[in-house]
Amino acid sequence: MAINRKLRMGLVGGGPGAFIGEVHRKASRLDGEIELVAGAFDIDPKKSQQMGKQLYLDPKRVYNTYQDMLKAESALPEGDRIDFVAVTTPNNWHFPIARDALKAGFHVMCEKPMTLTSKEAKELQTLVEKKGLVFGLMHNYTGYPMVKLARDMVKKNDVGKIRKVVVQYPQGWLATALEKTGQMQASWRTDPKQSGAGGCVGDIGTHAANLAEYITGLKITDICAELTTFVPGRALDDDCNCLLKLEGGAKGVLHASQIAHGEENNLAIWVHGEKASLEWHQEHPNYLYVRRPSKPEEVWKRGNDYVAGYSAAAARNSRIPSGHPEAFLEAFANNYTNFAETVKSAIEGKKPDPLATDFPGVNEGVRGMLFIETVVASSKSKQKWTPVKK
Ligand code: NAI
Repeated sequence: MAINRKLRMGLVGGGPGAFIGEVHRKASRLDGEIELVAGAFDIDPKKSQQMGKQLYLDPKRVYNTYQDMLKAESALPEGDRIDFVAVTTPNNWHFPIARDALKAGFHVMCEKPMTLTSKEAKELQTLVEKKGLVFGLMHNYTGYPMVKLARDMVKKNDVGKIRKVVVQYPQGWLATALEKTGQMQASWRTDPKQSGAGGCVGDIGTHAANLAEYITGLKITDICAELTTFVPGRALDDDCNCLLKLEGGAKGVLHASQIAHGEENNLAIWVHGEKASLEWHQEHPNYLYVRRPSKPEEVWKRGNDYVAGYSAAAARNSRIPSGHPEAFLEAFANNYTNFAETVKSAIEGKKPDPLATDFPGVNEGVRGMLFIETVVASSKSKQKWTPVKK
């Protein structure tokens, strides 16, 4: 039966002063398919209640812990309870919350990196398969229309066999010991118990690796990496340099850094094939640069008819006419809206539109954890080149 209503979301994390929980709130409501009805917003129950008030939520559905939320929501009639749980806490909480939500029968949208270890990631993968529930992973950069266009250019063989991928993600915000000031986002990111085995590599290196695999359709098979901690006293890496081997003989270079003064979120990718080269920048996301041998450079611009004519995915994931910039929130919302359509299809017992299933999920989460573990192992090793385990 068709469900003619918004999907109901229960949010974990996103308390006062939190970063990404608020982005999830904004992005999830952009297309009017999702409403926030419940939450356990903060590790501190008082702050969870404070956030619930600020959001004008029904106080009965503002919970002190995620466990309380899962229990109480499971007990509500099907017509009222949440449809899915969004996980926006620090990394160490992703696994228990996602696992318990799936076990309780809820679909999940989870932040990256998916877990603390690949073992936990594989446990979630098995659970998702067993339960037949929908799992989204917020690698939001795959939500950009021009990234989807690049992916489709590779798929249609307009780039040719891929020879080389260069991907970078420099930031500068951790160039000093910000964590020593008690700054909220820096504190947990530099603590291995909350962040995991990787610092910069887990926080933003995973986005770069995911983007490279998404656009090229090729898996990273081997990594030669060096992680460095430049800021004295810091427990995790703040700089990450990798050489990559990808399926089909392609080579790659991936670098991520959080000590690059003045860099904001300078994620960018270059894909060099036998027929053409592609270039895309997250800070200028409405343009895709295409270079072919002995031809002038092409600049493909989001929202134009020639983009829509070429890529149904780029067209579907774009909202406003060309020249009016779309960016971070819209890309985030694309993952949410595609996820919502897939969840609706699951509830209705229908096969989803393949274009709606174009968002990262639990398999990409496993890839992310294998990437982090391989980079850490390679960095510590003497032989350097390290295969990515299956
Ligand atoms: P944050 O420190 O700003 O916020 C974390 C929030 O989670 C806080 O409100 C905290 O009280 C709450 N929290 C912690 N444990 C909790 C629990 N057990 N139950 C309920 N609430 C709990 O952290 P930030 O920067 O928002 O990052 C959160 C997650 O989002 C991380 O996994 C991070 O990697 C990811 N992230 C993803 C981004 C993306 O572009 N996809 C960008 C930024 C962060």
